[in-house]
Amino acid sequence: MHLGIAFGGPGLPVKLNYGLTGRFGQDTAAFVRLEGFGISALQMTAGVTQMLSTSGFGEAGATAALGRPGLLGGGLRLGGGPGDRGGGLLLGGTIPIVGDAALWNLQISPFVYPAEVCLPSGRALRFGDGVALPPVLAIECARADAALASAWLDDARAELASVPAFLRLAGELSALGAPTQLRDAARAAADDERHHARAAFSMASRWAGTAFAVAPLDAQPRFDRPSPSALTQLAIEAWQDGCLGEGAAALCARRGLARVRDEQAASALSRIAPDEERHAELSWGILEWCAGAGGSSVRDAIAEVGRRSAPEQEHSPEDEDWLSWNGRLTAAERRAARAQIEEQATARLNRRFSGA
Ligand SMILES: [Fe+2]
Ligand SMILES: [Fe+2]
Repeated sequence: MHLGIAFGGPGLPVKLNYGLTGRFGQDTAAFVRLEGFGISALQMTAGVTQMLSTSGFGEAGATAALGRPGLLGGGLRLGGGPGDRGGGLLLGGTIPIVGDAALWNLQISPFVYPAEVCLPSGRALRFGDGVALPPVLAIECARADAALASAWLDDARAELASVPAFLRLAGELSALGAPTQLRDAARAAADDERHHARAAFSMASRWAGTAFAVAPLDAQPRFDRPSPSALTQLAIEAWQDGCLGEGAAALCARRGLARVRDEQAASALSRIAPDEERHAELSWGILEWCAGAGGSSVRDAIAEVGRRSAPEQEHSPEDEDWLSWNGRLTAAERRAARAQIEEQATARLNRRFSGA
């Protein structure tokens, strides 16, 4: 459905533009739209809409229009604008070809396709002892529920594991004599991860329809005094898990946030994205400190790790681009985000440490 303003046509030059669109397909889709222009014209369009990128679309179709007083015509309908399958901004217009030339218009109208949003529950439609569900939506919801529950549960477990990882990191930084600022940031990151885990478990519970019981993890510091090997290990882990891992997680969250239309998912991602960016920066700070404190052997190890590609952490089977309304990225999109971060982070690492 859309609601915006239009220019042209019979009567007032500026009108309210409103309408309903049925769309049949995915990236390339047929559509039928019935729309009104104030109270002076009604228009029916059939055509094709095409996603041109992840954030834009174009459409073309044939239109039949009926206007007051007694105007009748047909023409070509062209449109496009920023948006995705869930909504966007329709910038379009009608060029009359047959009938009354007064039935032209230009429109600018925000739109949404709420039919893609699969509600997790609702008031049951009862028939006798049973309840009825629309078959297609029911199937879609079942797939969405299972896939979303699994994807968010994977995230939740990874987030929860990050809590002891950061607490151990804080302890190890302390044992190695790192500045207070880094230790405090690691402890604060553990708190952030606790929030992320809670938010992700809540999403998983919502889609699974059940609560989860989890066993807490614990990890003790592995070093009790400074040494070149300890500093090297911390530096390499900072690179792999922070600069790359959390950097990619931040980019995925940002990209998910750009398309999410689920309020709870949006709330979770809007906290996760800046937190993960901060965690990635913390790792750059740890790298710098390790390089400074550890001398040339640590700097050489850091420079060497920048010449190797890090193993990719890909564990989720979820690969459904129609889950994007829940802020989910496909496996291919996550790989692309990871590759982008690897390229940027490697360039940054080499600028800083090459020739060390
Ligand atoms: Fe996190
Ligand atoms: Fe993190």
